[in-house]
Amino acid sequence: MARNIIIDTDPGQDDAVAILLALASPELNVLGITAVAGNVPLELTQKNARIICELAGFPGMLVFAGCDRPLNRPLVTAEHVHGKTGLDGPQMATPTMPLQDQHAVDWIIDTLRAAPENSITICALGPLSNIATAMQRAPDIKPAISEIVLMGGGFFEGGNITPTAEFNIYVDPHAADIVFKSGLPLTVMPLDVTHKALTNKARVDAFRALETIVGHMTAEWTDFFERFDKEKYGSKGAPLHDPTVIAYLIEPNLFSGRHINVEIETQSELTMGMTVADWWGVTDRAPNCTFMGGLDTDRFFKLITERLARLK
Ligand code: RIB
Ligand code: CA
Repeated sequence: MARNIIIDTDPGQDDAVAILLALASPELNVLGITAVAGNVPLELTQKNARIICELAGFPGMLVFAGCDRPLNRPLVTAEHVHGKTGLDGPQMATPTMPLQDQHAVDWIIDTLRAAPENSITICALGPLSNIATAMQRAPDIKPAISEIVLMGGGFFEGGNITPTAEFNIYVDPHAADIVFKSGLPLTVMPLDVTHKALTNKARVDAFRALETIVGHMTAEWTDFFERFDKEKYGSKGAPLHDPTVIAYLIEPNLFSGRHINVEIETQSELTMGMTVADWWGVTDRAPNCTFMGGLDTDRFFKLITERLARLK
């Protein structure tokens, strides 16, 4: 029985690979894709989500536009990483599939209200504005959520948008605070694990060797996306952050982590959006998430490449 998931996303090249992986995997049933402002503004993230669905051969996928800004802070975007369009690298066609009229938050609420208990997994690949707004507006939706798996935060790796904060959490720290205090089963893919998901020439060549449009686009996106991290970290390749969320649902044993307490800094500007992870258990704060740190990188890329091969 396929797992029902909702993908909340701010595409972004790495979001794109995550969405392609999900659509190519029969273990997952993507109920819909909800766009949020993040890497680029909402009008681009919703457009990019539709581009990716059409590329994957899913023009009937339900795509919704959600929050165009964080709960209590001005929007911060990341064109310096993802380019002006958010999917810079290859030339992209204009999408022809429709954007749904309903607001993403209303659709999330309606979908969860109509669903059985513990029946839908939320995959959050961007700032948590949509998810937190839905929870605040309709607390009764929580029982339908079996798990939230999100890319965000960092502890040993520090931050990537400030010295202490990772982008998704930094953009909407108040939304993250709501999600981390929700009491729901939470699995977190922080920079500690995504910085082990680095592309390299052989891995990108394997995408290209698929000799499909999807393989070509994925290679072009990762080539574009890696230049920032190579410059900033001197790393050999780009961290494929968001596909870790989807890969976890398909092959959880690719990952290892700890069930710990993580709280979100929402007061100090100096450390705003920091995921304060009690990795060493030095407080009496109750564990609230599984915070990942280990990854079998070769098997991770093997899974992505194998699954992308199923798309044309
Ligand atoms: O910090 C990395 C995260 O921020 C990824 O989800 C990337 O797509 C951006 O949203
Ligand atoms: Ca993202």
